[in-house]
Amino acid sequence: MVDMDRISISLPTKLLGEFDEVISERGYASRSEAIRDAIRDYIIKHKWIHSLEGERAGTITIIYDHHASELMKKLTEIQHKNGDLIVAALHMHLDNDHCMEVVLVKGEAKRIRELTDKLTSQKGVKQVKLTVMMPGGNIPE
Ligand code: NI
Repeated sequence: MVDMDRISISLPTKLLGEFDEVISERGYASRSEAIRDAIRDYIIKHKWIHSLEGERAGTITIIYDHHASELMKKLTEIQHKNGDLIVAALHMHLDNDHCMEVVLVKGEAKRIRELTDKLTSQKGVKQVKLTVMMPGGNIPE
């Protein structure tokens, strides 16, 4: 039997409600098991991102709450600081509450990762998806 630790976390009621709906649809017997799987996925994703190296091109897609105070300013500031990495950015007003941005990046994988982490960790950012392509010369024939 693996060692277990017990933790207590606070979640917004709506978020927990949606989580419960998903785990019920997926047939989980307990919330704990679903949370363990979610944490495993989170770790795997992090490790995958951190295993990338070399020159890469890709997109970072962000959905964020456009009412979050100072967030838009902060996201723009982060992008300006990484101007040499960012080729272009596309902004879409998704709905009344959310904006979506697609940031086109090209450069060292480590820096793309750092930029993605920085954007992800801002309060009010709801979703971030990083897509990384292999530059032409590295595609296996
Ligand atoms: Ni917008």
